[in-house]
Amino acid sequence: MFTHATQPAPSSQSVPIPEPVADEIEAISPQMDFNQLRPIFQRWYHDPVAFVHEALHVAYIEVWQEAVLRDMAEHNRVAVRSGHGVGKSALQSWVVLWYLFTRGPVKIACTAPTSHQLYDVLWSEVSKWARQLHPFLLSMIKINTDRIELMDNPEECFAVARTARKEQPEAFQGFHSENMMFLIDEASGVDDLIFEVGEGSLSTKGAKALMCGNPTRTSGYFYEAFHRMREVWKTHKVSCMESTRCSPDYMEAQALKYGVDSNVYRVRVLGEFPRQDDDTVISLAQVEDASTREIEPDGRIIWGLDVARFGNDRTALCRRQGNVVTHKVMTWRNKDTMQVAGIIARMYDDLPTHEQPQTIVVDVIGIGSGVVDRMQELGLPVIGINVSESPAIGEKFSRLRDELWWKGREWFEEMNCRLPDDETLMGELATVRYAIKSDGKIKVESKDEMKKRGLPSPDVADAFILTFAEVGRGRQKVKRTRQSSWRVT
Ligand SMILES: Nc1ncnc2c1ncn2[C@@H]1O[C@H](COP(=O)(O)OP(=O)(O)O)[C@@H](O)[C@H]1O
Ligand SMILES: [Mg+2]
Repeated sequence: MFTHATQPAPSSQSVPIPEPVADEIEAISPQMDFNQLRPIFQRWYHDPVAFVHEALHVAYIEVWQEAVLRDMAEHNRVAVRSGHGVGKSALQSWVVLWYLFTRGPVKIACTAPTSHQLYDVLWSEVSKWARQLHPFLLSMIKINTDRIELMDNPEECFAVARTARKEQPEAFQGFHSENMMFLIDEASGVDDLIFEVGEGSLSTKGAKALMCGNPTRTSGYFYEAFHRMREVWKTHKVSCMESTRCSPDYMEAQALKYGVDSNVYRVRVLGEFPRQDDDTVISLAQVEDASTREIEPDGRIIWGLDVARFGNDRTALCRRQGNVVTHKVMTWRNKDTMQVAGIIARMYDDLPTHEQPQTIVVDVIGIGSGVVDRMQELGLPVIGINVSESPAIGEKFSRLRDELWWKGREWFEEMNCRLPDDETLMGELATVRYAIKSDGKIKVESKDEMKKRGLPSPDVADAFILTFAEVGRGRQKVKRTRQSSWRVT
């Protein structure tokens, strides 16, 4: 059998691929027997970098990817924290295939916090690279939607995708093999319970584990790998600047939108854990956690519409149903009152009744009041509120906007909410700061104050916050009253 590389040869440092080796690979044919192939597999056993070049035809391996690959050959536990898009999922896919082809028997379990991250991101990346295999190697495996197996010995030589949900924490249980590997993508979002339940498997002698992720949280198993458990884990940090895969435009946009000192920039670009002393109303960890929860929407449907005040601002629409923001926040630029009202009316009318919002909350500041008037004319269940009015709980907040932001914060604290995969919403939510004033009241940073910090107006987050204000109840069309008897739900 091809996969028993029991007496591995010393590793080769073959980058770039020397000519004779390339010839040797190209010469592999189905007519060859294992004895002829043995030297190649033996070389790959200790040399994942050569495997990635030769078997997967990857022309350029990032410097950091090469370092992690080498560590995978030498260490049992490797953890990588990084900014977005540096090439982690690709790297993990290569590791899966390298291990699958150079060990035998071998079992590899891959997981991620959500089915989307596991199947649509990680597993689709594994399949993508598997199809790049040298044709002869490709003919040795069978690729399924959640499993890749060696056709020679499918029961003992395979890689599988397993979801890691709190309700079903057995992702890493029930595997026994001489050569075990556990792979965790977006590890910051994986619940500790999954690690606790899988600890026995993870710590099986000789088992290898590779965790990768954006360092979004300052607690939990992934965080501890870089701190308390540092001795056990071989760690890497990769910033977007270290990867040729990240576009400078992305880094610049993140710096402009959130500031280079923001947690969002630290986590998404630098690959640093967030600072804990950050005084934002809602923490990055809270929004990231909410984006990895898999819960169904339940409750009333409310839309929040933040209408652009100035040329550069966006008009933003957030749609929330109880504990779930059901869609990415939509934005428009340069639309007048009539156009905005028209767009919203069209969206409303196109929906089946059970998906229509019970209330559409619009901030009446600026041209917002015109939008409210027009939407009322069109018969929509709209209410206008003025977020600079005084709030219900006057002793705690000075303005309604502060109170609404606090409602938003409490919504996250419940830990039973879900956000869509919406980077702008998550980024803006985790950027707005607050302070306690001398009179003890909580004051949330205003749009203007953010502009003074050099940041754009958080229109997307404000649209979300508006969904926490509601006048009246029920499906009736609500008459607008400026000094409304608004209610915070
Ligand atoms: N060395 C590489 N050569 C070619 N493509 C790569 C390489 N590294 C990553 N990629 C591709 O770049 C894209 C982004 O990488 P990905 O692994 O998804 O990043 P991350 O998981 O860090 O967000 C993917 O399409 C991936 O296949
Ligand atoms: Mg990834």
